[in-house]
Amino acid sequence: MRLIVAITGASGVIYGKRLLEVLKEKNVEVFLVVSDAARTVAEHELGETDWSSLSSKVFAQDDIGAPLASGSFKVDAMVIVPASMKTVGALASGYCDDLISRAADVQMKEGRRLIVVPRETPLHAIHLENLAKLSRLGVTVLPAMPGFYHKPETVSDLIDFIVGKILDQLGIEHDLFRRWGS
Ligand SMILES: Cc1cc2nc3c(=O)[nH]c(=O)nc-3n(C[C@H](O)[C@H](O)[C@H](O)COP(=O)(O)O)c2cc1C
Repeated sequence: MRLIVAITGASGVIYGKRLLEVLKEKNVEVFLVVSDAARTVAEHELGETDWSSLSSKVFAQDDIGAPLASGSFKVDAMVIVPASMKTVGALASGYCDDLISRAADVQMKEGRRLIVVPRETPLHAIHLENLAKLSRLGVTVLPAMPGFYHKPETVSDLIDFIVGKILDQLGIEHDLFRRWGS
């Protein structure tokens, strides 16, 4: 499997980092874009992070000539985790001025899988309308809203719940959380 993963500057960059760790364990080929804002947030929330060790190749946000910017570059899916409201707004309006919004726009126009994991609270009407618009276009909106029915004991359990939900959407087997009824 080949994936594009984008990490944008919402709080919760740990969700993106954990997804990359699990995908690496599962030998998934990952093309990664970390936005400038995400790097700032990561410095604050995680400290120094070696993104290149967690992916097959890392691209800069402004590398608009990268292969990912073209529909001829085929991937199975793209995940934006976490997704800032700025990036959600860009996708909902088709305003693609960086590699993340362009690669996501390509996924949409080519009818390929796009999973967006928004993180913001509270949400105002523009956020909600943008997310609804993406959903109507076939984008999977998977908010960073962990459940509690698996009886989490640590922050890692909460993070793994969301990462597990992303893997479910990608059709990748995992045991990151205990399923209801199991
Ligand atoms: C510490 C920190 C936390 C932030 N958290 C959020 C957030 O949870 N959600 C959000 O939409 N924006 C958040 N922002 C603002 C975004 O980083 C900002 O809108 C940025 O322009 C997003 O750009 P990007 O989508 O290109 O990464 C945060 C910024 C900082 C510095």
